[in-house]
Amino acid sequence: MQKRPFIIDCDTGTDDAIAIIAALYSEEVEVKAITSVNGNVEHKYVCHNNLNLMEYLDQKVPVAKGANMPFRDNGLHANDGTHGKTGLGDLTLPEAQHSEFDPRIASQLIHDVAVEEKGELELLVIGPMTNIAIALLQYPDLPGLIKHIWFMGGAAVGGNVNTTAEFNIWVDPEAAHVVMGSGIPMTMVGLDVTLKAAMIEEDAAELRACGTRAANFVADLLDYMFRRRDMGQEDALMHDALALGAALCPDCLVCKDCYVDIECFGQYTRGHTAVDLKGRSGKKPNVSVALEIDVPMFRRWLVDAVKKSAKLGDK
Ligand code: RIB
Ligand code: CA
Repeated sequence: MQKRPFIIDCDTGTDDAIAIIAALYSEEVEVKAITSVNGNVEHKYVCHNNLNLMEYLDQKVPVAKGANMPFRDNGLHANDGTHGKTGLGDLTLPEAQHSEFDPRIASQLIHDVAVEEKGELELLVIGPMTNIAIALLQYPDLPGLIKHIWFMGGAAVGGNVNTTAEFNIWVDPEAAHVVMGSGIPMTMVGLDVTLKAAMIEEDAAELRACGTRAANFVADLLDYMFRRRDMGQEDALMHDALALGAALCPDCLVCKDCYVDIECFGQYTRGHTAVDLKGRSGKKPNVSVALEIDVPMFRRWLVDAVKKSAKLGDK
């Protein structure tokens, strides 16, 4: 089977880490690189989380540093505590001993791989879009080299930072505006569906029974999220893994082609994804927007994807 080449641009992050692990062990995917962006936590933690995770799972995947702040710093530090001080909840990974960051900055690595993959490269974008926008502005040929962008961000209705904006888009609306205008085929997996994508204790128990290092780490992350939920905070929501699910388990979602752009100026609406659900703008749809989710099908797919680590001889 011809594997699908992916780069994962992320602000790792608890749910980012689960999405990365699901991608690493999905048979139809080849993760070509992990690129790091400021988001859930400071960029330095994101970068080390990504490097440490690759070494912990014995994965030879290049990890690059990226933007350590958005195009227009909103002055509010992104870390709202949802992912803990360093981004992996109350978990810590062993510091990488034998791994180095790729010498290229994220945007250059993305372009280099896109050229190598001759138009077959797909991007899983699960943090603020700063790196992607920089790459698009730096390399005018990039839009013709990216097959599809699958992104976690935005919402047709609502928000999680405030009533109108979702975190990834809110951190860097200008970057998201550049990406929406790129002409690259893309799928938006926003809060409309990710707020329903909650894992449960049975999922963690099944992963523990699998017993691999990858499955146990995902179970540990889920247990942290259950503790967070039981304290009245966010549920064990798989925001980012659902964006991968859109690519690998398309039957989990129902999507609609819509025109989408980003509010960059509103006093109360900055970071809002303006999703033209009714086609009233008269503008050609540029994004496939996920509107409905089959939660049991998604949970089954995600647990099975991580359990494939056993087939690959993960310790
Ligand atoms: O709003 C949800 C998004 O913010 C997810 O990508 C999560 O990882 C956080 O970055
Ligand atoms: Ca994320």
